[in-house]
Amino acid sequence: MPVQYPSVWKIISLNKTFNFQHNLYLNMLFDLQKITRKNIQHLKPYSSARDEFSGEASVFLDANENSLGSPLTQWYNRYPDPHHVQLRNKIAAIKGIAPEHIFLGNGSDECIDILFRSFCEPGVSNTIICPPTYGMYQVSAQINDIALLEAPLLPDFQLHLPHLEQLVTDKTRIIWICSPNNPTGNLMHWEDIESVLNHFSGLVVVDEAYINFARQRSLISLLPDYPNLVVLQTLSKAWGLAGLRIGMAFASAGIIEIMNKVKPPYNISSPAQQLALRAVEEVGQVNDMITLLVDMRDALADVLRQMQGVTEVYPSDANFLLVKIPEAHQVYEFLLKKGIVVRDRSRVLLCDDCLRITIGTEQENTLLVDALAEWLQL
Ligand SMILES: Cc1ncc(COP(=O)(O)O)c(C=O)c1O
Repeated sequence: MPVQYPSVWKIISLNKTFNFQHNLYLNMLFDLQKITRKNIQHLKPYSSARDEFSGEASVFLDANENSLGSPLTQWYNRYPDPHHVQLRNKIAAIKGIAPEHIFLGNGSDECIDILFRSFCEPGVSNTIICPPTYGMYQVSAQINDIALLEAPLLPDFQLHLPHLEQLVTDKTRIIWICSPNNPTGNLMHWEDIESVLNHFSGLVVVDEAYINFARQRSLISLLPDYPNLVVLQTLSKAWGLAGLRIGMAFASAGIIEIMNKVKPPYNISSPAQQLALRAVEEVGQVNDMITLLVDMRDALADVLRQMQGVTEVYPSDANFLLVKIPEAHQVYEFLLKKGIVVRDRSRVLLCDDCLRITIGTEQENTLLVDALAEWLQL
């Protein structure tokens, strides 16, 4: 029986595990060895104390920890699990994907950096982004000395496939697609993403930070078909855990193995792992928040659309709205004076006079609407 997908892709357990038998043709086209940085191919990863001994013992004198404890809870004196076993197992059960297909980073920002460091040769490789989009792909590329090529989105914020295709060279290692996209809020067409996956023999990274607010299911279900697909998600948005810094990458076991070699050994702290483990038990509560945020998003969009003076409220599949309003920068300053901080995106490509507004609480949304009404003299 086909899986029934909800109208909003909330967190559900699929109760099935995907079978990774990659499409033979794509396997021939995609050569993981070829796109892995030479120095990483030969890298012998750091072997931590916990790697060298992981059995049962009562006296741990192997990691130069403080054996007396800490000013806080006793176990903070110990290094965290470098392999995040419990948390990965739990996420695996929720996502219907085996743990060896999951990488956990210190936020998805770390996943982005690790992908560059694993698969792009500094000063040699190039990478393609589709602006306007999330700023860290560019910053991380620059930090890693990777040339950045740009295939701007079309005026309807969809992928410009011919431009993308034209930019690809034999040095292109990663194409970044953000869906739902930040700051535009829209999903990229599923078939366009598949087209990129089918025609590009490097990595296609689809950043789904906002997928739980979207009307479309995650591309995780495509992982068995595409050895070149990496899906990024995060606990920072729908899960409400931005402060814990936990990002997730889903991909073939080979890609995940390389990312694990490159990451710092203890990249996620013990309290973050412990708290995340507790939080992922609360799927029902998180789904309730998602429902409420999506309802408030749609209600706020309706209200803003009815305000004379607001030029456009773009459709959103995320937990924010992109709103076009004349003199956006002055509106931004006016809202600031009222104590309301939104994101001024008016100098970003295709986003002239646009503000990006996160969905707040009911009360915060009302304050925002009142302030905008005052500015617009309604
Ligand atoms: C598209 C996108 N990806 C990734 C991130 C960063 O997520 P994390 O908090 O997991 O580093 C953000 C944060 O705003 C984002 O908008």
